[in-house]
Amino acid sequence: MYEFYAPTKIIFGEGCLSETIPQIKKMGATCALLVTGRSSTASSAGFKSLCKELDAGGLRWAHFAEVSADPETTIVDRGAEIFRAKGCDAIIGFGGGSPIDCAKGIAASVAEGRSIRDFVGTGLAFSAPVSPLVAIPTTAGTGTEVTNAAVFTVVDENGHRSKKGTSSQFYFPRLAVVDPLLHASMPPSLTAATGMDALTHAVEAYVSRFHTPLSDMYCLEAIRRIGRSLRTACRGSGIDAVAGARSDMAMAATLAGVALSQAGLGMVHGFAHPIGAMTGLAHGLANAILLPFVMNALIPDAGERLSSIGQALTGKSGISAKESVRAIARLGRDIGIPENLEAAGVPETYFENILTDALSYRRRKASPHAFTDAELRALLERMYGGNVEA
Ligand SMILES: [Fe+2]
Repeated sequence: MYEFYAPTKIIFGEGCLSETIPQIKKMGATCALLVTGRSSTASSAGFKSLCKELDAGGLRWAHFAEVSADPETTIVDRGAEIFRAKGCDAIIGFGGGSPIDCAKGIAASVAEGRSIRDFVGTGLAFSAPVSPLVAIPTTAGTGTEVTNAAVFTVVDENGHRSKKGTSSQFYFPRLAVVDPLLHASMPPSLTAATGMDALTHAVEAYVSRFHTPLSDMYCLEAIRRIGRSLRTACRGSGIDAVAGARSDMAMAATLAGVALSQAGLGMVHGFAHPIGAMTGLAHGLANAILLPFVMNALIPDAGERLSSIGQALTGKSGISAKESVRAIARLGRDIGIPENLEAAGVPETYFENILTDALSYRRRKASPHAFTDAELRALLERMYGGNVEA
């Protein structure tokens, strides 16, 4: 028996941003909180046109522009205060994964009437439906526009930083507006890192112990599109083929997001979260480095599934599991991903803390191989200084 629940309405296509306002009005919203990062997204043409259209549509709005990467729970609390103070009744996350996750956190904590901190890493479940939540991604990676998950950084009293995932059926946005034109300003390095995040979602969901025939379909289609388009999408803008490739990547990230909500993730994310929280290495980049190492370790348990991944990625049949791992490593190399953590500048001093955090990863049980603690230690050693081709 299995279930599949993906309730987010998806609007997809170049220029579809302009559909946002009529859709929000249909939800009965009168005042929206716009949640963005502090960076260039908030001054982008896409964001400005969204604000103009809100005005033209007679909707009030407030702007919370304080989201940093992997937002701390205190930032979510500040956003929730503004939501209440301005009398908002809808929320729009606009940007990469962090502003959208922050919007989810704000919506949930307002609905619950308590700090998001109470729910992060505590096992306490959300129980209240949230205000209309709209997600507008400007990167093609996290898929958070269609997921039931959000990641926050918790800082404890000793200053120790950890990234904790939370999930809830109330996190599924009511509407995802996926407009590839909004992705056109991504620099190649961001396209590469976020694209590899999407690939990691599709691979981990595909080999997950909780995969289903339905989630498989989303994973393989995402992998196929990434295989044919990520290299081209990383070539920068101004080239005709790049627009089509960007569109492919936008769809792939959304498909992989649907899949991960159903089937879960694995130890690539289990390691990438503490590495990101402690060293600041971008989430997609961490995943991109770790993915071939974890796949390699899964060959004895998930060989057939890994072969299918390689076939979808390369479009060739008869690919072995080992060749799939090599194909993923080659893709990473082609788009500028460092070959291991040492090459990415992750200091050795974090090793024990990264390992400790990874051992308690909440989705560890989704891995097709039940890694022992000793195996995860050996795996992290390889990820630090090893070469997956060796
Ligand atoms: Fe991810």
